[in-house]
Amino acid sequence: MGQSKIVTLERHIIEIERRHPGATGNFSNVLRDLSLAFKIIWREVSKAGLVNILGAAGTQNVSGDSVKKLDVFADETIFKTMDHSGHLCVMASEEHESIIAIPDQYPKGKYVLLYDPLDGSGNIDANVSIGTIFSVYRRISHQGNGTIEDILQPGYKQIAAGYVVFGSSTMLVYSTGDGVHGFTLDPSIGEFLLSHEDIKIPKRGKIYSVNEGNYKWWDNGVKRYIKHLQEEDAATSRPYASRYIGSLVADFHRNLLYGGIYLYPGDARNRNGKLRLMYENNPLAYLCEQAGGRAINGEKRILDVIPTELHQRTPLFIGSEEDVTLCEKFLREG
Ligand code: AHG
Ligand code: MN
Ligand code: MN
Repeated sequence: MGQSKIVTLERHIIEIERRHPGATGNFSNVLRDLSLAFKIIWREVSKAGLVNILGAAGTQNVSGDSVKKLDVFADETIFKTMDHSGHLCVMASEEHESIIAIPDQYPKGKYVLLYDPLDGSGNIDANVSIGTIFSVYRRISHQGNGTIEDILQPGYKQIAAGYVVFGSSTMLVYSTGDGVHGFTLDPSIGEFLLSHEDIKIPKRGKIYSVNEGNYKWWDNGVKRYIKHLQEEDAATSRPYASRYIGSLVADFHRNLLYGGIYLYPGDARNRNGKLRLMYENNPLAYLCEQAGGRAINGEKRILDVIPTELHQRTPLFIGSEEDVTLCEKFLREG
């Protein structure tokens, strides 16, 4: 008999919540509802390759149902799972220009949800890993519909964050401030089972992940740092390996487990890089810090950036503590 116990996501959430005296259980319900949305998204994602047989996105499938693009489907699924729960007062999604109100007929709760419904969506047609990212805050406003102020909170105020990676298996990784925990979906029973308890990112890795096609637009500090990682030095495990999927969730997930650094720097074309603070950088920075790593925008901690716009972008340097610290030094020196 194996020694390990079998723990579902739902049981884990309840046990973590018990460590917080006075918890009402409302928050556990937010995570439980989200896990339902993720299973529905997984069901569709895993059929993505059948689209040519069953009907292309934007057309009707053989049963006459209209087939939606997966990112639209994922976006609607999260909204439809979460809007009526009574636990949220407002949402925001990478797919919507403005904040998303809870419909009038439903009660408003004390939490705020932000999400990137499908990350790495450009990879879907090649059957490469993609993901979903989420972030939860406590509301600031006192009652009724949540407002833009409830959404535009700095990342250090997150009370939970996580992602699902749809890879060779589907995993959910989340934190509520008590470490980072990973669950693997067992499709035969439709449950996320605890598979990676209290994940810690290695202090130093051997991997760097960056879109090197942007090299010519990079600042000197970034160019010098990457060159440094490519130089030979047995004492510091250099040269590093280059690994870049082009799905942030999948790139981050690999580096979280193996150690290393992911960079999406600002460059001569886009001073703020590409990735979005509220839907991508903040939740992953929260998870990375919870796992013992670091996440900065080049000048400060990602979690300390005060957001001013819903779809704001910031540079991102995230991963193993020592790797990010060395990168920071190169960026400062220019
Ligand atoms: P999304 O699919 O949510 O728009 O995000 C795409 C992002 C991210 O997943 C990925 O790491 C990055 O774009 C890749 O950008 P490049 O193609 O510029 O490397
Ligand atoms: Mn994304
Ligand atoms: Mn997206």
